[in-house]
Amino acid sequence: MMRPNVVVLIAAALAPPAHGIRIVQSNDDGWAELYVRTLNSALRAAGHAVVLAAPAEDMSATGSRDEPPAPRAGPCEYASCPPRAGPVGSNATRPDLTWVNSFPATSIRYGIDSVGPRLWRGAAPELAVTGPNVGTNLWLSVLISGTVGAACFAAHDAGIPAIAFSGASAQRAAWDVSPVPNRSIVYAQLATALTNKIVASGKPYLPEDVFLNVNFPKVEGACTNATDFKWILSRINPGTFSRPDVEWCDSTRLPTELSVAGRDGCYISVSIGDASDKTTVNDGRQKVVLDKLRDMLVCLP
Ligand SMILES: *[C@@H]1O[C@H](CO)[C@@H](O)[C@H](O)[C@H]1NC(C)=O
Ligand SMILES: *[C@@H]1O[C@H](CO)[C@@H](O)[C@H](O)[C@H]1NC(C)=O
Ligand SMILES: *[C@@H]1O[C@H](CO)[C@@H](O)[C@H](O)[C@H]1NC(C)=O
Repeated sequence: MMRPNVVVLIAAALAPPAHGIRIVQSNDDGWAELYVRTLNSALRAAGHAVVLAAPAEDMSATGSRDEPPAPRAGPCEYASCPPRAGPVGSNATRPDLTWVNSFPATSIRYGIDSVGPRLWRGAAPELAVTGPNVGTNLWLSVLISGTVGAACFAAHDAGIPAIAFSGASAQRAAWDVSPVPNRSIVYAQLATALTNKIVASGKPYLPEDVFLNVNFPKVEGACTNATDFKWILSRINPGTFSRPDVEWCDSTRLPTELSVAGRDGCYISVSIGDASDKTTVNDGRQKVVLDKLRDMLVCLP
């Protein structure tokens, strides 16, 4: 039998570091898509307690649709669950990995209301992280993206600060592919870095009703190592007729995320989104986010 002090030592070694928080994760490409799983592993390795609740299959471009999950007939994507497995289910040995036979917003709702509290003795998630989406979600596509829809459900309906990640390298892959392609590792490293930055900035992690819409460029050419990438504060939609943006980079107009994506130089756009309508937040909340991220941001040349 193990002596009690040894048990205590092991428990202490396994306890998350002080900065670890409770995170609910979702996406729209499905619970078994590689990108969301690599990020799940990276967030756990960083000390966070993570619950993944995502659609049973690809539900891209379903926006904020939210309907009660129905029983499945066929297997989940990539044969990741057997046929006729019910309306929701989880990995047999990892109850924190859950599929929901419905939309992204429904899935994250289930993670927030059911899976998280069940595994965390009733406690709610403190942050929502969606994606990385397979493919970008820029400007108009933000409106139909399920990855953004899930983030907005968390931020607007559940009051949980949310970050939506999307990656321009758009090759799909199953959760168990080996070796894990570099693009998935780099996106997970970058998403974890921004998540940790927001966590380190303290509560409230984001202003009320705000989500961050983050788009990574392709992992190729000169942009293959996480250290190659640079973070740019941006807008979702053009601001032609909007009031001035927060003063930053000698300007009172932030670049659009589309213009950031069009530049060479490994630039990541970080837009301050309004979770109530998926447009750009255009008020004092911009400065609050800028102050949280300031020392990791650069200006476009
Ligand atoms: C379920 O979890 C086990 C143990 O971590 C893993 O080996 C397996 O690939 C997972 N399957 C799915 C579909 O998540
Ligand atoms: C992935 O990254 C490793 C380490 O940087 C590198 O050696 C390898 O060539 C990369 N693979 C591809 C396909 O780019
Ligand atoms: C990325 O770059 C850093 C710093 O140059 C280096 O230490 C690290 O090994 C590189 N990672 C990979 C996967 O090549």
